[in-house]
Amino acid sequence: MVEWEELSKLIKTRRSIRKFQDKPVPEDLLVKALELATWAPNGGNQQAWRFIIVSNGKLIQKMGDAVNAKTELMASWPEAEQFGEHVARWRKTSDFFRGAPVCIAVLMGRYSSVADQILRARGENDAIAREIRSSREIGKSSLQSAAAAITYLCLLLHYLGLGNTWMGGPLQAKKEIEALLTVPPEWDLVGLIPVGYAAEAPETRPRKPIQDVIRFIR
Ligand SMILES: Cc1cc2nc3c(=O)[nH]c(=O)nc-3n(C[C@H](O)[C@H](O)[C@H](O)COP(=O)(O)O)c2cc1C
Repeated sequence: MVEWEELSKLIKTRRSIRKFQDKPVPEDLLVKALELATWAPNGGNQQAWRFIIVSNGKLIQKMGDAVNAKTELMASWPEAEQFGEHVARWRKTSDFFRGAPVCIAVLMGRYSSVADQILRARGENDAIAREIRSSREIGKSSLQSAAAAITYLCLLLHYLGLGNTWMGGPLQAKKEIEALLTVPPEWDLVGLIPVGYAAEAPETRPRKPIQDVIRFIR
């Protein structure tokens, strides 16, 4: 077993990396990390996740253009004015993944558990079934499964010396990115992970004291 100290160091030294060296990433390292990431817990062991590894620079730029277009559109809305400097920063950074030699697009499948199928068959008229469906939708199993794999992946890439950031922001151009990557209609883009050798060493972003985020019920 890994020593606690070692594991703790690995976890605590991972940082979201947003600046990358212009240096290619060996595909075997990516596959190695992805293979281990698929050992993440997942709903019904359906493994309803897919990973598209994009190292085609032109395609990455097109994804960047799509995200940027949506950022500019939203930033032009009058509702954005109240956010001043934040919007200015966001306009500069929302497509930073352009600078990465590789982007991994994470797709989520449409996994239906037995409970999901019963609830669907029960239809819209039963109020309790509706409530259960809505509660389950919030913690959607397929999304949680993809998130578990991404968590593992980000940590494993870090272990292999590869900087990365888990990005949800690019989903503002979900439709356009899915078209660029020819994602089949039954799959959904849920995250984008730019990967590369780090060209920055960001400060640790502190975490809340543990007592602020846990509660025992004894
Ligand atoms: C679901 C999720 C979505 C995220 N989306 C973005 C994003 O769109 N852009 C970005 O720069 N960082 C994104 N991040 C990274 C977080 O900003 C980062 O993890 C957090 O600030 C803590 O910093 P650390 O990862 O260096 O510890 C995301 C992280 C998660 C888990």
